[in-house]
Amino acid sequence: MKTMSLPLVLLTHTLPADWIASLDGRVRALTGPLDATRLAPELEARLAEAEGLFCLLTIPVQKDLLDRAPRLRVVSNMAVGVDNVDVAECTRRGIPVGNTPGVLTDATADLTMALLLAAARRLPESARDARAGRWKTWSPAGWLGADLRGATLGIVGMGKIGRAVAERARGFGMKIVYTDPAPSADAPGEFLPLDELLRVSDFVSLHCPLTAETRGLMNESAFRKMKPTAILVNAARGPVVDTAALTRALADGQIAAAALDVTDPEPLPPEHPLYALPNCLIVPHIGSATHGTRRRMAEMACENLLAGLEGRRLPFCVNPEVYEKT
Ligand code: DGY
Repeated sequence: MKTMSLPLVLLTHTLPADWIASLDGRVRALTGPLDATRLAPELEARLAEAEGLFCLLTIPVQKDLLDRAPRLRVVSNMAVGVDNVDVAECTRRGIPVGNTPGVLTDATADLTMALLLAAARRLPESARDARAGRWKTWSPAGWLGADLRGATLGIVGMGKIGRAVAERARGFGMKIVYTDPAPSADAPGEFLPLDELLRVSDFVSLHCPLTAETRGLMNESAFRKMKPTAILVNAARGPVVDTAALTRALADGQIAAAALDVTDPEPLPPEHPLYALPNCLIVPHIGSATHGTRRRMAEMACENLLAGLEGRRLPFCVNPEVYEKT
């Protein structure tokens, strides 16, 4: 009886119980499967009653969903990026949207460096060759890669993650240039317009959010501006890169290599031609995938969810203007 009076929350995916223990006894949670790529039908069926939504970045929270959830009082996204959520529409409806900033900065920057190093030193190709018996001797001119010291790293998007990547890259002796809609005097690098950054960079690493302005930013014309020896790293969002243009640029040798934590579409189907290219490394969106980071992201998402349900301000809110309306 008491349980029935608790707010109904749709938890779009199954998560480790200890990550979301703070919800115990405070919400009635209806949970979707571990690997849901869309809102599970049994959750869809309860949208009309739901007061809270705890979702991952793979679940679109757009007008059609919001229309079917008239009692929704909070959307808590377990990610820093909220491009899957129509935030403006939530604000219009007075629904606060929560995210998980800061906590994944280091993990994502570490993974960016891992991708950059792996592509620079051709780890996937050389590991494959060793396993396949093509390691005949110490090969003076075999598996040669790029040096980091003295190379120029172009960072697109100098936010928290961009800065953390710059800090790491400086430790490797790289020169940092960056582009950002809001250049800052204390940024760790020289500001350049995008075209110039593409022209001078040996590595280009993307760390901008996905917005109308950044969708397809890395298109055919962008690849034409890059050095033929350049390496692209994307640990931001897949659609910042035009996948077809990247496939052509890699196949035609317009750029040397790419290392991708994110793709468009996501997941990238196994038959996609990008997988067949030896100069393309793809990992399944694991930027924040460390034990500590993912747990903390879930905990922060729970804090946001509970605050929203209890009428408190979300501790990590992407649309604080929602509070000005009410
Ligand atoms: C985020 O939180 O936006 C990341 O992409 C998850 O790794």
